[in-house]
Amino acid sequence: NVSGEKVLNTKVMGHRGAALLAPENTLSSIRAAAAAGATWVEIDVYLIAEGGLVIFHDDTLERCTNGEGVTREAQLSYVTELDAGVKFSADFVGEKVPTLLEALHCIQSLGLGLNLEIKHDSADVETIVPAVMDMLKAHWADNDKLMISSFNHAALQMSYEIDSDRHLAQLYEDIPAHWQEELENIKAYSLNCDYSRLTQVQALAVKAAGYKLLCYTANNPQAVESHWAWGMDAVITDDPTKFAFLLVP
Ligand code: G3P
Ligand code: MG
Repeated sequence: NVSGEKVLNTKVMGHRGAALLAPENTLSSIRAAAAAGATWVEIDVYLIAEGGLVIFHDDTLERCTNGEGVTREAQLSYVTELDAGVKFSADFVGEKVPTLLEALHCIQSLGLGLNLEIKHDSADVETIVPAVMDMLKAHWADNDKLMISSFNHAALQMSYEIDSDRHLAQLYEDIPAHWQEELENIKAYSLNCDYSRLTQVQALAVKAAGYKLLCYTANNPQAVESHWAWGMDAVITDDPTKFAFLLVP
């Protein structure tokens, strides 16, 4: 286990940047998280056509951009020309879908920590994981400010095989019976789960086993009030301003 307090030095992590403050997974969203006082952000990395890596959540382009079609099949030149702000609000017209490289530069220039969630089409694990790991090796400086997360256990296993020093987080919607085996497999740093499905018994077991425990996606403090007492280490939120009382000024 690579756990250490110096890694996760915050209780609040912006979700998709700060998805309630600016268009999710854009550079504006990352900057909004930083402006709100967050020192870590979670963003999603998605594999598109010809090995392109962009910061994007959905399997299709419609919800977050003025484009259309299947994200996986879209060309980089198409995706990077789309407007990723107009569906959020008129204030963000012209916002772009960032490449992974642009996001890495932006996040580091702001001094933030990064929770990079690998989105997947299972068939693509063997393409996306080495590409992401190569990009991080070349363009991310501080390993203690980086967490790699995924719902896809095979993706995390491959990450671990490529570089066993990374801080890996297994994501679950519902924590399965075999969670501990999976976390041990990848020498996980953290278990990241849906706050609304987590039970106290599960939380205590995760903490007793020595892992960090992060919960997504809570947008008001009351929703996770009990979770702190259960040992939750950090909350992943669309609106870090709501958790300002937990942020060091
Ligand atoms: O990493 C936590 C959270 O982002 C997982 O769910 O669908 O928002 O990527 P999703
Ligand atoms: Mg995510």
